[in-house]
Amino acid sequence: MKQRIVNVWAALSFIGFVTVAVVGLIMWSHSFNSRAKPSEMEASVAMKAHDSSIPDRYETMKNPLANSGINLVEAGGHYEEHCAACHGDSGNGEPKFHGLMYPRPSNLLSKDTQEMSDGEIYFIIKQGIRYSGMPAFGKPGDDDEHAWKMVAYVRHLPQLTRAEEQQVLQQSQEPMGHEDAPHEHSH
Ligand code: HEC
Repeated sequence: MKQRIVNVWAALSFIGFVTVAVVGLIMWSHSFNSRAKPSEMEASVAMKAHDSSIPDRYETMKNPLANSGINLVEAGGHYEEHCAACHGDSGNGEPKFHGLMYPRPSNLLSKDTQEMSDGEIYFIIKQGIRYSGMPAFGKPGDDDEHAWKMVAYVRHLPQLTRAEEQQVLQQSQEPMGHEDAPHEHSH
């Protein structure tokens, strides 16, 4: 099993190199086409590699914060700061910047993501996904509250209302304690 994981990473790193080469070629030959998608095969090989690289114990791990409830706006603020640039404000996988990125950031609203266990989402946030754009966040260990809040937020994304999204956006653009520059006019 361990051996297989190593092989899978070797394969994934190879795919990473190939992807970079292909992306480079596309950029040279076609102008910047951000609509192009990786082939189904490439995507599915990459996803299988992810699945098998997550240690078994994360499969059944539940979010320890699930019952205490999370502060949505606070978690949303962290999401805005660390995740939204790639995964979009709503989590739909549309990056906020118009870059070319392979693999494409996942649609976090999708069945694929939402069917993962809390622990698996936690693991991905903690470890990142090697040779993809998905970075690793937080400190090591299984008790990073910050990361568990992100898991809770990812879980909430499919139910996120427009109003909540606006609230999160507003909050994250106005750091607490900072008022807008005073206006000249009187009220
Ligand atoms: C620099 C861009 C970038 C940032 C920032 C980023 N991600 Fe990702 N993320 C990705 C990419 C790209 C993938 C897909 C990797 C793949 O398919 O191989 C991904 C995959 C994931 C997945 C796996 C989804 C699935 O169905 O496999 C989760 C969960 C996730 N990201 C959550 C987050 C969270 C939460 C944050 C913020 C703490 C975050 N990401 C920040 C680029 C990013």
